[in-house]
Amino acid sequence: MFSFADLEIPLVGAPMAGGPSTPQLAAVVSNAGGLGMLAAGYLNADQLAEQVKQTRELTDGPFGVNLFCPADPNDNPGNAKALLQGYRQALAPLGKQYGLDLLNYELVLPDHFHSLLDWLLANPVPVVTFTFGCPSAEQIERLQMVSTYVGVTVTNPQNAILATQADANFLCVQGPDAGGHQSTFRVQDEVNQLPLSQLVPAVQAVTNLPLIAGGGVGSNQDVQSILALGVEAVQVGTVLLLSDEAGTSQAHRDALQSGITETRLTRAFTGRPARAIVNDFVTEFDALAPAVYPHAHYLTAPLRAKAKDAGAWQHINAWTGTGFCQAHNSPTIKIIFNLLKPS
Ligand SMILES: Cc1cc2nc3c(=O)[nH]c(=O)nc-3n(C[C@H](O)[C@H](O)[C@H](O)COP(=O)(O)O)c2cc1C
Repeated sequence: MFSFADLEIPLVGAPMAGGPSTPQLAAVVSNAGGLGMLAAGYLNADQLAEQVKQTRELTDGPFGVNLFCPADPNDNPGNAKALLQGYRQALAPLGKQYGLDLLNYELVLPDHFHSLLDWLLANPVPVVTFTFGCPSAEQIERLQMVSTYVGVTVTNPQNAILATQADANFLCVQGPDAGGHQSTFRVQDEVNQLPLSQLVPAVQAVTNLPLIAGGGVGSNQDVQSILALGVEAVQVGTVLLLSDEAGTSQAHRDALQSGITETRLTRAFTGRPARAIVNDFVTEFDALAPAVYPHAHYLTAPLRAKAKDAGAWQHINAWTGTGFCQAHNSPTIKIIFNLLKPS
């Protein structure tokens, strides 16, 4: 089974769903001696199969797949329907600009979690991580039975205890500076405010599991200070977003290079807290967004897709960690080299 001790470099390329993660990106990280990750959060089993196949063609090294745990429907507030209706009304004028009728748009909520899990049981990969919750002890054990090393992404000590009790092999500790969604277990949970430097010791106090950690990493100094906390590896996402091998959309790349320097945790795009560039969409809708997931995600999805196609970065979810000023257009291998080279 996989072990972090086998890695030649203590780096994990974060799973980044929605485009940035590609087999090419995962393979460069794995070929460099780290752990590359595929992001299956929005994929179906056929799409995952294709990405795994491509990754295997590009690397003999270990790699992992990240899944999103489905939201518990009871997790959403009792008045979720009314909240969503209000959000439809707020979004409607912008939707209209893109030729969309969001007031009458029919929400379809795909659920591929179980078919993805079945596929991974039948076609094992070295590592699987979970985000937005903890799978059951039985689901974890079934993956371990096919020699998959299982991680759970946690953002606070309470969730670290739950994942430890479910017998995960390791935890991925995500700090509040991380780009993209916070892996809170429940949609309504408040985001942890402890910086990673305090969060990791707080998690170490409640579990003996091996940890990896990330959030806000842009430099070698960041990597060194997280490793000094006693974790096995550092997970980096944002700093890879502009790399040649990332599938980051042009609109997302433009947002990162727009000169905007502010990021914020917002529920505006999906109903779950996620760190993004503060563009016009965030400014206008952050205060109006309901904590209703995944409904809010699928309500804004057509608008974001149209905006992305139009290159309108002011209206897309440009997920970004606080270290994004240190992301550069460059081959991934060079970024990895710089992260590991003392300056
Ligand atoms: C564009 C983007 C997409 C992300 N998608 C996922 C995902 O699918 N699954 C996941 O566990 N984390 C996801 N994350 C969070 C990363 O796993 C990781 O926590 C984060 O990138 C680390 O912080 P950093 O971005 O500041 O390096 C995403 C992050 C970004 C920037």
